[in-house]
Amino acid sequence: MRDRLVQVAKEAQANAYAPYSGFKVGAALQADDGRIFAGANVENAAYGLTNCAERVALGAAVAAGARRFKRLVIVTEASPPSAPCGACRQVLAEMGTELAVESVGPAGSRRWKLAALIPDRFGPEDLAP
Ligand code: THU
Repeated sequence: MRDRLVQVAKEAQANAYAPYSGFKVGAALQADDGRIFAGANVENAAYGLTNCAERVALGAAVAAGARRFKRLVIVTEASPPSAPCGACRQVLAEMGTELAVESVGPAGSRRWKLAALIPDRFGPEDLAP
């Protein structure tokens, strides 16, 4: 249920570790089997080592054995709602580009298919012999 994903993403957003940017992001990634995995951005004093909420959620999902996903919700305070960064698009696209992506902010939401956010990914098939 979409509302459940928003709820999980909001709870994760509250736990985001973003002392440098102050930009807290929560993510909820739903696997094909229905399981929901939360992520939050985790910043670092060495700024470039920051992990985005989307990739944290994907890492939790993969560690639990999930490989196929149907929906991602991210929650931020951006208005209009912000789109996932380029690095996260590429990493998410590893598992397929049919993912439904929704960004929720204080003034509404935006939705995309991942394929529209990254139309020409470098993917597993590019490494095939
Ligand atoms: N951030 C995310 O977590 N996801 C995105 O898609 C965009 C950016 C985080 C990284 C950093 O902690 C903060 O937002 C500001 O860039």
